[in-house]
Amino acid sequence: MFRKTVSGLAAAALALLLAAPAARADEGMWLPLLVKRLNHVDMQKQGLKLTAEEIYDVNNASLKDAIGQLGGFCTAEFISKDGLLLTNHHCGYDAIQNHSTPQNDLLTNGFVAKTKADELTNPTLFVDVLHHMDDVTGKVLEGISEATPDAERAKLVSERVKAISDAAKENGKYVAYVRDFLGGNEYYLFVYTRFADVRLVAAPPQSIGKFGGDTDNWMWPRHTGDFSVFRVYANERNEAAPYAATNKPYQPKKHLPVSMSGVDENDFAMVFGFPGRTTRYMAAAGVKMTTEMTNPARVKLRDKRLKLMKEDMDQSADVRIKYASTYASVANYWKFWQGESEGVRKLGTVAQKQALEKQFQQWADADPKRKETYGAALADINGAYAELSKYTLSQQYLNEGIFGVDILQKAAGAIALHKALTAKDADAEGVKKAAASMEEGLGESYKDFVPATDQKIAAAMLRYFAQDVPKDQQPEALTAIFKEYGNDYDRLAREMFATSVFASKAKLEAFLKAPTAAALDKDLAFRVANSVVKNFNENIAPKLQAPAAQLARGNRRFIQGQREMMPGKSFYPDANSTIRLSYGTVRAYKPRDGVDYAYYTTLDGIAQKEDPTNEEFIVPAKLMSLYRAKDFGRYADPKDGKVHVAFLTDNDITGGNSGSPVINGRGELIGLAFDGNWESMNGNIVFDPALKRCINNDIRYVLFVIDKVIDGKHLVDEMTLVTNGPNPEPGNGGGAGKKMKKEKKKKDKSMASAQ
Ligand code: ARG
Repeated sequence: MFRKTVSGLAAAALALLLAAPAARADEGMWLPLLVKRLNHVDMQKQGLKLTAEEIYDVNNASLKDAIGQLGGFCTAEFISKDGLLLTNHHCGYDAIQNHSTPQNDLLTNGFVAKTKADELTNPTLFVDVLHHMDDVTGKVLEGISEATPDAERAKLVSERVKAISDAAKENGKYVAYVRDFLGGNEYYLFVYTRFADVRLVAAPPQSIGKFGGDTDNWMWPRHTGDFSVFRVYANERNEAAPYAATNKPYQPKKHLPVSMSGVDENDFAMVFGFPGRTTRYMAAAGVKMTTEMTNPARVKLRDKRLKLMKEDMDQSADVRIKYASTYASVANYWKFWQGESEGVRKLGTVAQKQALEKQFQQWADADPKRKETYGAALADINGAYAELSKYTLSQQYLNEGIFGVDILQKAAGAIALHKALTAKDADAEGVKKAAASMEEGLGESYKDFVPATDQKIAAAMLRYFAQDVPKDQQPEALTAIFKEYGNDYDRLAREMFATSVFASKAKLEAFLKAPTAAALDKDLAFRVANSVVKNFNENIAPKLQAPAAQLARGNRRFIQGQREMMPGKSFYPDANSTIRLSYGTVRAYKPRDGVDYAYYTTLDGIAQKEDPTNEEFIVPAKLMSLYRAKDFGRYADPKDGKVHVAFLTDNDITGGNSGSPVINGRGELIGLAFDGNWESMNGNIVFDPALKRCINNDIRYVLFVIDKVIDGKHLVDEMTLVTNGPNPEPGNGGGAGKKMKKEKKKKDKSMASAQ
């Protein structure tokens, strides 16, 4: 089943692939359930000292119990027996922003809770910790074959997936879902415990947590201290529970011991986390569509939004804080998508994939039985993309354009209310419910609303929509509105903000007291949002259905066929926000001719990058004075006496892995994964072993900042710090017998105390 691949899908490398067994383990995001069967032997060869059960076990504490998915979008891990939780600064960013005001600016100043009573609650944040997972492929696909019609298959699969996950929820005790793998050839059930009381404990000032800003983002060499600290709370019985003042710090089944010993190049390293999405099996036509149409469209729209936000953020502290989180996340993928398109072009991925597809087609056509099952897979895929790409702009200009405008997103939230108001049999209950649900989110939704800036964004996005979306896909109602305003988008936006009930929380609150359809029908924000959404739902979405189903069928067969065509090759499933393990080594790289990168950075680099005139490169005075005084405490590296800030591994990660623990062969925390490198921005589509790296904070830098810069020594004291000799040599158990015994003893101790 899933086994590792040595290289990407390059057809040129295929012969090599079939001949050579695993060269390095870097590529692949593996399911913990299957590690024992698929990876453990290989991992041991590379330096892992843990048993497969110490990684994943349903009945006894294992690594999986120390790791959770944070808020559905990041990874976090327990680092104390009292539920202390470590993640990235950019993962905690929204929470940190929520607690910030110009008077008490935690983003700028950083934060540390002196006592547990000072820890800050976050109503919408949660952590899901895996309880267990199961292969349910047999149950989901029972009686289904390639002869089963698409619609019938889809219906059966969705019924069974629902029944299986419903049963696993045990009446709300767990969060459970089934996800499809390898194009729907396999299905797995995931059952999680959800902890909903997650409090902010510490964060560095953003001059550390976001040091280097968007300039250094997705780049090596890196000097960001990208961490923040939370704590999970549970009820009296140590069970997951909603927030309550009486909740107690959660005692996790397992927390990670923290290694004080640092890393060397070639050390074993594994990353455990929740990678969001990769599309490594995507066909050439899909790669072309993504990198040549979708990405440029998204980048164009985001580019404009970013410029407009930035202009106003630079003018006002209030606006800067309100937009901080939105700006950072919009900028993050704005940069990523540019790198992805460039990286795919540079590597020649489309041509590589086309070569593989040619070979696949020949293989399928060479045998009548194969031809019947797999012969049409690529034609299906290519036909589907040809159809889907007609609507790419409509989709992107809705998601990134219209929904990139705050007021239009708010107005779109009233579509359900409008439906209830205009329902044939006047539905008073429905109206009440829809209005109530809108009222509920009002505080949160208007907290960061900046009407003056949003108005400029609205004008710009509407202008782009009118110019770029194919005319026959634009809603007639919107064209009529544009006409009313003589295609003057600035005037339209001005009028919208002057008159719409969505332009302020107070106006919307008043409207929701006695909502009418007539008011919405003449509300400019609602008219615009509704016209686009309605047009999409009625005229665009139905046209996507058939090609989407055709694409799913084609992909399923294309992937299954490749597994038959290359029985010697290992296939791992694409990331899909489920828990994965990736293993490899600490490793440098050569980004281009004549340049050799080191595998780690130090405080020296922070001093070198310091620029008080550039907000991205300001260094806090406290950090500079510690640096000048060489006041590094126990956090300097024993070999060079420097504080190491970040290091590289060749682990296979993607977005969603942010905040993942980097763990050494003994199961100790050595780092905190936080980014990918610019030369491998194509990594969601293709894995290039020469250039794909994972950027991690050295855990000792995290502790240094907590202890020495933000005065959080009491938090470091909560952790289980362990000191070892150098990481064990791969394969031979770490050298001489005496040293090995000593290490083993220490390991046992550190593991035991960390349970
Ligand atoms: N590139 C990082 C990631 O996706 C996020 C960095 C956020 N920082 C920023 N400057 N936008 O994991």
